[in-house]
Amino acid sequence: LPSHYVLPSGDQIPAVALGCWRSARDDVGEAVKTALKAGYRHIDGAWIYGNEGEVGQALKYSGVPRREVWLTSKLWNAHKTPEDVEPALNDTLSKLGTDYLDLYLIHWPVAKKDGQPYDKTLTADPYPTWQKLEEMVAKGKVRNIGVSNFNIPKLDNLIANPLKIKPAVNQVELNFWLPQPELLEYAKRNSILLEAYSPLGSEGKVKETLALPEVQAIAHEMGMTRAQVIISWHIQRGTVVLPKSVTPARVVENLQVRALPPALFDKLEAAARAHPPSRGLNPSTNWLDYDMFA
Ligand code: A2P
Repeated sequence: LPSHYVLPSGDQIPAVALGCWRSARDDVGEAVKTALKAGYRHIDGAWIYGNEGEVGQALKYSGVPRREVWLTSKLWNAHKTPEDVEPALNDTLSKLGTDYLDLYLIHWPVAKKDGQPYDKTLTADPYPTWQKLEEMVAKGKVRNIGVSNFNIPKLDNLIANPLKIKPAVNQVELNFWLPQPELLEYAKRNSILLEAYSPLGSEGKVKETLALPEVQAIAHEMGMTRAQVIISWHIQRGTVVLPKSVTPARVVENLQVRALPPALFDKLEAAARAHPPSRGLNPSTNWLDYDMFA
């Protein structure tokens, strides 16, 4: 399996990251330290996760040089007005204890001003925010930029603009229940790397994923754990994978992956596509009165 992917900038992004969403502040530091010790060199976080300070402390404590670790963060929905972007980025940088990010993503394709409801006009056009992100690259505060939770129409809408820098990645929910083959195909065609969040199926569905007969059979045949089978499948699909865990043994386990033989990969891929897709996370009903995924 590839240990890295190469982005259009030439930077190499490690294929497996420690995901920090839903990691409690009290736990995330230990998880980061365990991960770095186990060989992870990619930490995926976001301002809204509320734990960037703890992640930064753990990085410092680990003694691993900053340039050896890939750090991703995400611009929150309430910080997307161009004048709000740089202060938001500065806050993330200071919490993480660094002067640059390897990757900065627009967290969701929706926008609002702080303390106000979601704003359809701000949401409709991501280009002003994107131009500000391009400026952050020019200033050296960010090495690569991308998006998160964008579907095909939203990506089309963004890349129709005269971009100086194209989105390098799109981080989305990808798992057995939501394999998104069309988006994967589109991303490959447009040289956008997908990153899989909730790769095991998100909190509520992890048990169900690991209990799948296909997964159990492959794990048995390969002498791998069931989580390792799923994580390997993601990398073989050509995406970055972001398993979240705060359990040390699982953090270590999730990095130890290897390729499935094509026949077993195909079996898992077919099973993932054989049922109606279902989303673990759909905040659109809370955030806007229209479907943000449409
Ligand atoms: P925990 O953090 O308590 O170890 P996803 O990344 O798809 O959202 O899945 C995260 C969930 O899966 C968390 O509840 C995490 O639990 C659990 N998890 C992570 N790695 C493993 C693993 N190797 N085996 C079983 N469960 C895991």
